[in-house]
Amino acid sequence: MIAILGGSGLDRWPQLGALVPKTIDTPYGAPAAPLLCGAVEGVPACFLPRHGAGHSLPPHRINYRANLWALKAAGARAIVAVATVGSIPTHIAPGALVLPDQIVDYTHGREATFFDGADGRVEHVEFTEPYDPALRAALRDAATAVGIALVDGATYAATQGPRLETRAEIDRLERDGCHIVGMTGMPEAALARELGLPYVCLAVVANRAAGRGAIGLLTEIEQHLAAGIDAAQRLLLAALPRLAVCR
Ligand code: HPA
Repeated sequence: MIAILGGSGLDRWPQLGALVPKTIDTPYGAPAAPLLCGAVEGVPACFLPRHGAGHSLPPHRINYRANLWALKAAGARAIVAVATVGSIPTHIAPGALVLPDQIVDYTHGREATFFDGADGRVEHVEFTEPYDPALRAALRDAATAVGIALVDGATYAATQGPRLETRAEIDRLERDGCHIVGMTGMPEAALARELGLPYVCLAVVANRAAGRGAIGLLTEIEQHLAAGIDAAQRLLLAALPRLAVCR
């Protein structure tokens, strides 16, 4: 089963209306919402809005461990995380879809591991390549097949939020080699790895990052988010059969 984690602008997905809500509890508490499970385009799938059904959870308050655990408990074998981001270099414009291949974690104070030593065990996971190459290829191939533009390869900076960044912070992220910036990429990607769940991020660029655009960030997000999310949904529907094959 392919799990889709929805982000800002993707709290609900009416085309997936036939899916059945599944309430799941976890050792870490409840996930953000009941999972919507069923078949999409003939592929077993489930959908979970990471901020809650009414977008009530800010990025630092999301229970990432409960979300990931619930998806695994429901039978997920792969995770596609849709994430809204700002872009740092000029060649990535608002409205673009991006398939990051690396991530830098600037978050703090979040429950970031299942291996917190509480059971007396110390475990480390490899995280050299945080995003699953086969899932990335499936999304890339689907984008080519249906003619949706996709920026292939980028480094995602995961910031704490909920405020947006300062210009100097974005300058620093650029010096660090980051191309896109969002608030939910971590610890989500690492927790998926700890659970052995292949994970890919489909980033929707809503705005130019702080200090990089000509208009206010919130205005820009308002202008571009809906079209970007629409393209992401079309891409995901086209990609589901390919995603299912690689898992
Ligand atoms: N910064 C951080 N997170 C974001 C942004 C941004 O500019 N845009 C959308 N999510």
